[in-house]
Amino acid sequence: MSINHDEILKKVNPIYFSAKGCLGLLAETGDVDIKNFYGSIDKERLISFDMSDPVTESRVISLEARYHMWNAIAKDTDCQTIVDLPCGYLPHSLIAARLNKNYYGFDLPIVTEEIAPVAAKYLNDAEKNFVQYHGIDATNYESMRNALKDVRGKICIITDGFLGYFKFHDLKAICANVHRLLREFGGCWYTSDSQFTDLMALTYVVLTGGDRDYILNLNDSGRNKIAHTDSSNGAIFMEGTLEERRSFLKECGFSVESFRYPEKLKFIPSLKDKPDLMEKMLAAYQEMEEWLITADDTDAENFQANLDAEKPFAQEFSLSDNVLSINLRGRLDTITAPKLLEKYEEQSGFTEIHIDATELSYISYAGLHTFEIMQESLKDANLFKISNANDEVKKILKENGYKFN
Ligand SMILES: C[S@@+](CC[C@H](N)C(=O)[O-])C[C@H]1O[C@@H](n2cnc3c(N)ncnc32)[C@H](O)[C@@H]1O
Repeated sequence: MSINHDEILKKVNPIYFSAKGCLGLLAETGDVDIKNFYGSIDKERLISFDMSDPVTESRVISLEARYHMWNAIAKDTDCQTIVDLPCGYLPHSLIAARLNKNYYGFDLPIVTEEIAPVAAKYLNDAEKNFVQYHGIDATNYESMRNALKDVRGKICIITDGFLGYFKFHDLKAICANVHRLLREFGGCWYTSDSQFTDLMALTYVVLTGGDRDYILNLNDSGRNKIAHTDSSNGAIFMEGTLEERRSFLKECGFSVESFRYPEKLKFIPSLKDKPDLMEKMLAAYQEMEEWLITADDTDAENFQANLDAEKPFAQEFSLSDNVLSINLRGRLDTITAPKLLEKYEEQSGFTEIHIDATELSYISYAGLHTFEIMQESLKDANLFKISNANDEVKKILKENGYKFN
Protein backbone atom coordinates (compact mmCIF):
# COMPACT_ATOMS: atom_id res chain seq x y z
CA MET A 1 0.00 0.00 0.00
CA SER A 2 1.39 3.43 -0.92
CA ILE A 3 1.85 6.03 1.81
CA ASN A 4 -0.55 8.22 -0.10
CA HIS A 5 -3.34 5.66 0.14
CA ASP A 6 -2.64 5.29 3.86
CA GLU A 7 -2.90 9.05 4.29
CA ILE A 8 -6.26 9.04 2.50
CA LEU A 9 -7.61 6.37 4.88
CA LYS A 10 -6.45 8.42 7.85
CA LYS A 11 -8.05 11.58 6.53
CA VAL A 12 -11.55 10.21 5.91
CA ASN A 13 -12.06 8.81 9.41
CA PRO A 14 -9.72 10.24 12.07
CA ILE A 15 -11.59 8.41 14.89
CA TYR A 16 -9.19 5.50 14.43
CA PHE A 17 -6.48 7.47 16.23
CA SER A 18 -8.38 7.35 19.53
CA ALA A 19 -7.70 3.61 19.69
CA LYS A 20 -3.93 4.16 19.64
CA GLY A 21 -4.31 6.36 22.70
CA CYS A 22 -6.29 3.60 24.48
CA LEU A 23 -3.53 1.08 23.80
CA GLY A 24 -0.86 3.52 24.97
CA LEU A 25 -2.69 4.23 28.22
CA LEU A 26 -3.29 0.54 28.86
CA ALA A 27 0.40 -0.19 28.27
CA GLU A 28 1.00 1.79 31.48
CA THR A 29 -0.55 -1.13 33.42
CA GLY A 30 2.45 -3.29 32.49
CA ASP A 31 0.31 -6.07 30.96
CA VAL A 32 2.71 -8.05 28.77
CA ASP A 33 0.37 -8.61 25.79
CA ILE A 34 -0.59 -4.95 25.74
CA LYS A 35 3.02 -3.81 26.01
CA ASN A 36 3.99 -6.14 23.16
CA PHE A 37 1.29 -4.69 20.93
CA TYR A 38 2.15 -1.14 21.91
CA GLY A 39 5.81 -1.79 21.20
CA SER A 40 4.90 -2.89 17.66
CA ILE A 41 2.61 -0.12 16.39
CA ASP A 42 3.50 3.14 14.72
CA LYS A 43 3.46 5.77 17.50
CA GLU A 44 3.95 8.87 15.39
CA ARG A 45 1.90 11.79 16.77
CA LEU A 46 1.07 9.88 19.98
CA ILE A 47 1.67 12.06 22.98
CA SER A 48 3.21 10.69 26.18
CA PHE A 49 1.10 10.20 29.28
CA ASP A 50 1.58 11.77 32.68
CA MET A 51 0.69 9.00 35.11
CA SER A 52 1.01 11.32 38.09
CA ASP A 53 -2.10 13.13 36.83
CA PRO A 54 -5.15 11.54 38.54
CA VAL A 55 -7.23 12.14 35.39
CA THR A 56 -4.83 9.98 33.40
CA GLU A 57 -4.72 7.39 36.17
CA SER A 58 -8.53 7.24 36.19
CA ARG A 59 -8.54 6.77 32.43
CA VAL A 60 -6.08 3.90 32.72
CA ILE A 61 -7.96 2.11 35.52
CA SER A 62 -11.33 2.43 33.80
CA LEU A 63 -9.87 1.28 30.47
CA GLU A 64 -8.33 -1.64 32.29
CA ALA A 65 -11.67 -2.52 33.89
CA ARG A 66 -13.31 -2.54 30.46
CA TYR A 67 -10.43 -4.49 28.93
CA HIS A 68 -10.82 -7.24 31.54
CA MET A 69 -14.60 -7.11 31.25
CA TRP A 70 -14.18 -7.87 27.53
CA ASN A 71 -11.90 -10.80 28.39
CA ALA A 72 -14.31 -12.14 31.03
CA ILE A 73 -17.22 -12.02 28.57
CA ALA A 74 -15.14 -13.82 25.95
CA LYS A 75 -14.38 -16.54 28.48
CA ASP A 76 -17.96 -16.93 29.71
CA THR A 77 -19.90 -16.75 26.45
CA ASP A 78 -21.18 -20.00 25.01
CA CYS A 79 -20.70 -18.60 21.48
CA GLN A 80 -17.75 -20.10 19.64
CA THR A 81 -17.28 -16.94 17.56
CA ILE A 82 -16.47 -13.56 19.06
CA VAL A 83 -16.70 -10.38 17.04
CA ASP A 84 -14.62 -7.55 18.49
CA LEU A 85 -16.42 -4.46 17.15
CA PRO A 86 -14.28 -2.38 16.98
CA CYS A 87 -11.03 -4.11 17.88
CA GLY A 88 -8.77 -1.07 17.79
CA TYR A 89 -5.20 -2.11 18.62
CA LEU A 90 -5.88 -4.17 21.77
CA PRO A 91 -4.63 -7.76 22.09
CA HIS A 92 -8.05 -9.37 22.63
CA SER A 93 -7.24 -11.69 19.73
CA LEU A 94 -4.57 -13.35 21.90
CA ILE A 95 -7.05 -13.81 24.75
CA ALA A 96 -9.73 -15.34 22.51
CA ALA A 97 -7.28 -17.65 20.72
CA ARG A 98 -5.94 -18.93 24.06
CA LEU A 99 -9.56 -19.78 24.96
CA ASN A 100 -9.80 -21.68 21.64
CA LYS A 101 -12.55 -19.33 20.45
CA ASN A 102 -12.82 -17.90 16.97
CA TYR A 103 -11.92 -14.22 17.01
CA TYR A 104 -13.03 -11.70 14.37
CA GLY A 105 -11.35 -8.34 14.88
CA PHE A 106 -13.46 -5.72 13.05
CA ASP A 107 -12.28 -2.15 12.58
CA LEU A 108 -11.56 0.37 9.86
CA PRO A 109 -9.06 -0.88 7.25
CA ILE A 110 -6.46 1.63 8.48
CA VAL A 111 -6.50 -0.16 11.86
CA THR A 112 -6.76 -3.81 10.83
CA GLU A 113 -4.03 -3.43 8.20
CA GLU A 114 -1.66 -2.34 10.95
CA ILE A 115 -2.72 -4.61 13.80
CA ALA A 116 -3.23 -7.95 11.99
CA PRO A 117 0.53 -8.46 11.36
CA VAL A 118 1.30 -7.36 14.93
CA ALA A 119 -1.08 -10.01 16.33
CA ALA A 120 0.44 -12.63 14.02
CA LYS A 121 3.82 -12.00 15.67
CA TYR A 122 2.46 -13.02 19.07
CA LEU A 123 0.18 -15.92 18.10
CA ASN A 124 1.56 -19.45 17.76
CA ASP A 125 0.60 -21.50 14.70
CA ALA A 126 -2.34 -23.23 16.42
CA GLU A 127 -3.67 -19.91 17.79
CA LYS A 128 -3.45 -18.26 14.37
CA ASN A 129 -6.23 -20.57 13.15
CA PHE A 130 -8.63 -18.88 15.54
CA VAL A 131 -7.90 -15.29 14.56
CA GLN A 132 -9.04 -13.13 11.66
CA TYR A 133 -8.98 -9.35 11.25
CA HIS A 134 -11.21 -7.57 8.75
CA GLY A 135 -11.34 -3.97 7.59
CA ILE A 136 -15.02 -3.04 7.77
CA ASP A 137 -17.26 -0.05 8.37
CA ALA A 138 -19.91 -0.77 10.99
CA THR A 139 -22.36 1.51 9.16
CA ASN A 140 -21.93 -0.75 6.10
CA TYR A 141 -23.75 -4.06 6.53
CA GLU A 142 -22.20 -5.83 3.54
CA SER A 143 -18.67 -5.17 4.79
CA MET A 144 -19.41 -7.02 8.05
CA ARG A 145 -21.52 -9.77 6.50
CA ASN A 146 -18.81 -10.58 3.94
CA ALA A 147 -16.22 -10.81 6.69
CA LEU A 148 -18.39 -13.38 8.50
CA LYS A 149 -19.10 -15.47 5.42
CA ASP A 150 -17.45 -18.64 6.81
CA VAL A 151 -18.99 -18.40 10.27
CA ARG A 152 -21.46 -21.06 11.38
CA GLY A 153 -23.37 -20.83 14.66
CA LYS A 154 -24.00 -18.04 17.12
CA ILE A 155 -21.84 -14.95 17.41
CA CYS A 156 -21.01 -12.84 20.44
CA ILE A 157 -20.34 -9.23 19.47
CA ILE A 158 -18.44 -7.19 22.07
CA THR A 159 -18.32 -3.42 21.74
CA ASP A 160 -16.14 -1.21 23.87
CA GLY A 161 -15.37 2.46 23.25
CA PHE A 162 -17.41 2.96 20.10
CA LEU A 163 -21.02 4.15 20.24
CA GLY A 164 -20.13 7.48 21.85
CA TYR A 165 -18.47 8.66 18.63
CA PHE A 166 -21.60 8.62 16.50
CA LYS A 167 -24.53 10.86 15.81
CA PHE A 168 -28.05 9.59 15.43
CA HIS A 169 -28.06 8.47 11.80
CA ASP A 170 -24.81 6.50 12.03
CA LEU A 171 -25.87 5.00 15.36
CA LYS A 172 -29.11 3.86 13.76
CA ALA A 173 -27.24 2.32 10.85
CA ILE A 174 -24.81 0.50 13.15
CA CYS A 175 -27.64 -0.82 15.32
CA ALA A 176 -29.64 -1.94 12.28
CA ASN A 177 -26.57 -3.80 11.00
CA VAL A 178 -25.83 -5.49 14.33
CA HIS A 179 -29.51 -6.37 14.62
CA ARG A 180 -29.48 -8.02 11.25
CA LEU A 181 -26.30 -9.96 12.00
CA LEU A 182 -27.80 -11.25 15.25
CA ARG A 183 -31.00 -12.26 13.49
CA GLU A 184 -28.99 -14.16 10.89
CA PHE A 185 -26.46 -15.86 13.15
CA GLY A 186 -28.12 -15.82 16.56
CA GLY A 187 -26.14 -14.81 19.63
CA CYS A 188 -25.84 -11.55 21.50
CA TRP A 189 -24.19 -8.16 21.77
CA TYR A 190 -22.37 -6.91 24.87
CA THR A 191 -21.36 -3.33 25.41
CA SER A 192 -19.66 -1.29 28.08
CA ASP A 193 -20.57 1.85 26.12
CA SER A 194 -23.74 2.05 28.22
CA GLN A 195 -21.66 3.88 30.86
CA PHE A 196 -18.38 4.54 29.10
CA THR A 197 -17.69 7.99 30.57
CA ASP A 198 -19.49 7.34 33.85
CA LEU A 199 -17.07 4.55 34.63
CA MET A 200 -14.12 6.87 34.19
CA ALA A 201 -15.76 9.61 36.25
CA LEU A 202 -16.58 7.19 39.06
CA THR A 203 -12.99 5.92 39.03
CA TYR A 204 -11.79 9.52 39.38
CA VAL A 205 -14.15 10.10 42.31
CA VAL A 206 -12.91 6.96 44.13
CA LEU A 207 -9.27 7.84 43.47
CA THR A 208 -9.39 11.50 44.41
CA GLY A 209 -12.68 12.26 46.13
CA GLY A 210 -13.07 14.87 43.36
CA ASP A 211 -16.00 15.97 41.24
CA ARG A 212 -17.65 13.52 38.81
CA ASP A 213 -18.89 16.25 36.44
CA TYR A 214 -15.42 17.70 35.99
CA ILE A 215 -14.14 14.55 34.33
CA LEU A 216 -17.38 13.88 32.42
CA ASN A 217 -17.01 17.26 30.72
CA LEU A 218 -13.33 16.71 30.01
CA ASN A 219 -13.97 13.42 28.31
CA ASP A 220 -16.90 14.61 26.22
CA SER A 221 -15.00 17.58 24.88
CA GLY A 222 -12.10 15.22 24.00
CA ARG A 223 -14.39 13.04 21.92
CA ASN A 224 -16.02 16.11 20.37
CA LYS A 225 -12.65 17.19 19.07
CA ILE A 226 -12.19 13.89 17.27
CA ALA A 227 -15.69 13.21 16.03
CA HIS A 228 -17.25 16.70 15.86
CA THR A 229 -20.33 15.60 17.79
CA ASP A 230 -20.64 19.20 18.83
CA SER A 231 -24.35 19.86 19.25
CA SER A 232 -27.42 18.07 20.45
CA ASN A 233 -27.70 15.93 17.36
CA GLY A 234 -28.61 12.53 18.67
CA ALA A 235 -25.16 11.53 19.89
CA ILE A 236 -27.02 9.56 22.55
CA PHE A 237 -24.07 7.54 23.77
CA MET A 238 -22.14 10.72 24.39
CA GLU A 239 -24.77 13.13 25.56
CA GLY A 240 -27.83 11.11 26.54
CA THR A 241 -28.79 9.59 29.86
CA LEU A 242 -28.62 5.91 30.63
CA GLU A 243 -32.38 5.66 30.16
CA GLU A 244 -32.27 7.45 26.78
CA ARG A 245 -29.61 5.01 25.62
CA ARG A 246 -31.68 2.06 26.77
CA SER A 247 -34.82 3.43 25.03
CA PHE A 248 -32.86 4.07 21.85
CA LEU A 249 -31.74 0.43 21.72
CA LYS A 250 -35.30 -0.73 22.41
CA GLU A 251 -36.53 1.42 19.51
CA CYS A 252 -33.91 -0.26 17.33
CA GLY A 253 -35.52 -3.62 18.11
CA PHE A 254 -33.25 -4.88 20.89
CA SER A 255 -33.90 -6.27 24.35
CA VAL A 256 -31.46 -4.95 26.91
CA GLU A 257 -30.47 -6.73 30.11
CA SER A 258 -27.93 -5.27 32.46
CA PHE A 259 -25.52 -6.64 34.98
CA ARG A 260 -23.12 -4.89 37.32
CA TYR A 261 -19.38 -4.75 36.77
CA PRO A 262 -18.31 -6.76 39.84
CA GLU A 263 -20.43 -9.70 38.64
CA LYS A 264 -17.70 -10.41 36.10
CA LEU A 265 -14.85 -8.16 37.16
CA LYS A 266 -13.23 -9.46 40.33
CA PHE A 267 -9.75 -8.01 40.11
CA ILE A 268 -8.03 -4.90 38.71
CA PRO A 269 -4.41 -5.92 38.06
CA SER A 270 -2.86 -2.44 38.24
CA LEU A 271 -4.29 -2.05 41.77
CA LYS A 272 -2.88 -5.38 42.97
CA ASP A 273 -0.48 -3.63 45.37
CA LYS A 274 -3.29 -1.47 46.77
CA PRO A 275 -5.86 -4.04 47.93
CA ASP A 276 -7.91 -1.54 49.94
CA LEU A 277 -8.25 0.77 46.98
CA MET A 278 -9.13 -2.14 44.70
CA GLU A 279 -11.83 -3.27 47.09
CA LYS A 280 -13.23 0.26 47.30
CA MET A 281 -13.12 0.60 43.51
CA LEU A 282 -14.90 -2.69 42.87
CA ALA A 283 -17.54 -1.81 45.47
CA ALA A 284 -18.12 1.52 43.72
CA TYR A 285 -18.34 -0.25 40.33
CA GLN A 286 -21.42 -2.02 41.66
CA GLU A 287 -23.19 1.10 40.32
CA MET A 288 -22.01 0.52 36.75
CA GLU A 289 -24.08 -1.35 34.17
CA GLU A 290 -22.69 -3.55 31.42
CA TRP A 291 -25.32 -4.44 28.82
CA LEU A 292 -26.26 -7.74 27.29
CA ILE A 293 -28.31 -7.04 24.19
CA THR A 294 -30.32 -9.41 22.02
CA ALA A 295 -32.25 -8.79 18.80
CA ASP A 296 -36.03 -9.00 18.86
CA ASP A 297 -37.68 -10.50 15.83
CA THR A 298 -38.98 -7.28 14.20
CA ASP A 299 -40.02 -6.29 10.67
CA ALA A 300 -37.35 -8.40 9.01
CA GLU A 301 -38.96 -8.18 5.58
CA ASN A 302 -38.99 -4.38 5.39
CA PHE A 303 -35.43 -4.24 6.46
CA GLN A 304 -34.36 -6.79 3.84
CA ALA A 305 -36.12 -4.77 1.11
CA ASN A 306 -34.22 -1.61 2.10
CA LEU A 307 -30.89 -3.34 1.94
CA ASP A 308 -31.62 -5.04 -1.36
CA ALA A 309 -32.46 -1.68 -2.93
CA GLU A 310 -28.97 -0.32 -2.22
CA LYS A 311 -26.79 0.22 -5.30
CA PRO A 312 -22.99 -0.33 -5.26
CA PHE A 313 -20.87 2.77 -4.87
CA ALA A 314 -19.86 4.59 -8.08
CA GLN A 315 -18.51 8.05 -8.86
CA GLU A 316 -18.25 10.07 -12.06
CA PHE A 317 -16.11 13.20 -12.35
CA SER A 318 -16.28 15.86 -15.07
CA LEU A 319 -14.75 19.31 -15.39
CA SER A 320 -16.18 22.26 -17.28
CA ASP A 321 -15.91 26.07 -16.86
CA ASN A 322 -14.00 25.79 -13.57
CA VAL A 323 -16.74 23.57 -12.14
CA LEU A 324 -15.88 20.09 -10.95
CA SER A 325 -19.05 17.99 -11.16
CA ILE A 326 -19.23 14.72 -9.26
CA ASN A 327 -22.06 12.22 -9.55
CA LEU A 328 -22.21 9.84 -6.61
CA ARG A 329 -24.07 6.55 -6.34
CA GLY A 330 -24.64 4.14 -3.43
CA ARG A 331 -23.19 4.60 0.07
CA LEU A 332 -20.52 7.13 1.00
CA ASP A 333 -18.90 5.67 4.14
CA THR A 334 -15.46 4.72 5.44
CA ILE A 335 -15.16 1.96 2.85
CA THR A 336 -16.06 4.14 -0.14
CA ALA A 337 -15.08 7.68 0.94
CA PRO A 338 -11.32 6.99 0.41
CA LYS A 339 -12.10 6.29 -3.26
CA LEU A 340 -13.80 9.69 -3.56
CA LEU A 341 -10.99 11.53 -1.79
CA GLU A 342 -8.28 9.72 -3.76
CA LYS A 343 -9.89 10.64 -7.10
CA TYR A 344 -10.64 14.16 -5.86
CA GLU A 345 -7.00 14.76 -4.98
CA GLU A 346 -6.04 14.00 -8.60
CA GLN A 347 -8.22 16.86 -9.90
CA SER A 348 -7.14 20.43 -10.60
CA GLY A 349 -8.28 23.60 -12.42
CA PHE A 350 -11.63 24.25 -10.69
CA THR A 351 -13.03 26.79 -8.28
CA GLU A 352 -16.44 25.20 -7.72
CA ILE A 353 -17.66 21.73 -6.82
CA HIS A 354 -21.12 20.42 -7.67
CA ILE A 355 -22.13 17.11 -6.15
CA ASP A 356 -25.06 15.37 -7.81
CA ALA A 357 -26.48 13.17 -5.07
CA THR A 358 -29.47 11.77 -7.01
CA GLU A 359 -28.31 8.19 -6.49
CA LEU A 360 -26.55 8.62 -3.16
CA SER A 361 -28.32 6.28 -0.73
CA TYR A 362 -26.42 6.98 2.52
CA ILE A 363 -23.72 9.23 3.86
CA SER A 364 -21.88 8.37 7.07
CA TYR A 365 -19.60 10.44 9.27
CA ALA A 366 -16.64 9.53 7.02
CA GLY A 367 -18.52 10.75 3.92
CA LEU A 368 -19.43 14.02 5.65
CA HIS A 369 -15.86 14.44 6.74
CA THR A 370 -14.69 13.94 3.14
CA PHE A 371 -17.15 16.59 1.92
CA GLU A 372 -15.73 18.90 4.59
CA ILE A 373 -12.16 18.33 3.33
CA MET A 374 -13.29 19.08 -0.23
CA GLN A 375 -15.18 22.18 0.84
CA GLU A 376 -12.25 23.49 2.86
CA SER A 377 -9.96 23.13 -0.15
CA LEU A 378 -12.01 25.75 -2.08
CA LYS A 379 -11.27 29.46 -1.80
CA ASP A 380 -14.98 30.11 -1.33
CA ALA A 381 -16.72 27.40 0.72
CA ASN A 382 -20.12 28.54 -0.66
CA LEU A 383 -19.10 27.17 -4.04
CA PHE A 384 -19.42 23.61 -2.72
CA LYS A 385 -22.93 22.62 -3.78
CA ILE A 386 -24.96 19.48 -3.36
CA SER A 387 -28.09 18.86 -5.36
CA ASN A 388 -30.82 16.23 -5.74
CA ALA A 389 -30.16 14.48 -2.44
CA ASN A 390 -32.93 12.11 -1.36
CA ASP A 391 -34.84 12.86 1.85
CA GLU A 392 -32.68 10.69 4.11
CA VAL A 393 -29.38 12.05 2.80
CA LYS A 394 -30.76 15.60 2.87
CA LYS A 395 -31.77 15.15 6.50
CA ILE A 396 -28.27 13.98 7.43
CA LEU A 397 -26.67 16.84 5.51
CA LYS A 398 -28.98 19.40 7.13
CA GLU A 399 -28.17 18.05 10.58
CA ASN A 400 -24.56 18.72 9.70
CA GLY A 401 -25.00 22.30 8.67
CA TYR A 402 -25.67 22.06 4.93
CA LYS A 403 -28.38 24.38 3.69
CA PHE A 404 -30.91 23.59 0.97
CA ASN A 405 -33.47 25.87 -0.66
C1 LIG B 1 -11.91 4.39 21.10
S1 LIG B 1 -11.50 3.24 19.89
C2 LIG B 1 -11.91 1.74 20.71
C3 LIG B 1 -11.22 0.56 20.12
C4 LIG B 1 -11.09 -0.64 21.06
N1 LIG B 1 -12.34 -1.28 21.31
C5 LIG B 1 -10.44 -0.19 22.34
O1 LIG B 1 -11.06 -0.30 23.40
O2 LIG B 1 -9.30 0.27 22.27
C6 LIG B 1 -12.74 3.49 18.63
C7 LIG B 1 -12.52 2.61 17.40
O3 LIG B 1 -13.63 2.74 16.52
C8 LIG B 1 -13.15 2.55 15.20
N2 LIG B 1 -14.14 3.05 14.24
C9 LIG B 1 -14.50 4.34 14.00
N3 LIG B 1 -15.46 4.41 13.06
C10 LIG B 1 -15.74 3.12 12.71
C11 LIG B 1 -16.67 2.53 11.81
N4 LIG B 1 -17.49 3.28 11.08
N5 LIG B 1 -16.68 1.17 11.71
C12 LIG B 1 -15.83 0.41 12.45
N6 LIG B 1 -14.94 0.91 13.33
C13 LIG B 1 -14.89 2.25 13.46
C14 LIG B 1 -11.86 3.35 15.22
O4 LIG B 1 -11.03 3.01 14.15
C15 LIG B 1 -11.28 2.97 16.58
O5 LIG B 1 -10.45 1.85 16.50
